[in-house]
Amino acid sequence: MSETKHIDHIGIAVKDLEASKKLYNSILGKTPDKEEIVASENVKVAFYTYGDTKLELLEGLSEESAIRKFVEKKGEGMHHIAFEVSDIEASMRKMQAEGYRLIKEKAGKGADNKLVNFLHPKETGGVLIELCQTIKN
Ligand code: CO
Repeated sequence: MSETKHIDHIGIAVKDLEASKKLYNSILGKTPDKEEIVASENVKVAFYTYGDTKLELLEGLSEESAIRKFVEKKGEGMHHIAFEVSDIEASMRKMQAEGYRLIKEKAGKGADNKLVNFLHPKETGGVLIELCQTIKN
């Protein structure tokens, strides 16, 4: 049984991370708490922690990056909402058993020291939902 804990973060696809940081630095009154490159996804991300939730700004680094494709097709904006779960494998199996498709067969290492996978937006009313679980060191 996997428990869904909270909204871990909201992902926002941006064209230019440096430019977008200006807005969030200003509205949140601080600079990002963490920035990293996720090589497997070809993205550069910046996280702002705000209370129990984070904002994740994502910039695609290559033509093949899903974020770059998203921005080219739909423009910048809201990309996904991420729920932290206690056991991602159990959550994935549960959602699959209920007929929801997963983007990847297996959870992979994502940003912010997390295992991640996504539910296909076709079955979720157009919302790209990320499931994530903190990797225990
Ligand atoms: Co995310």
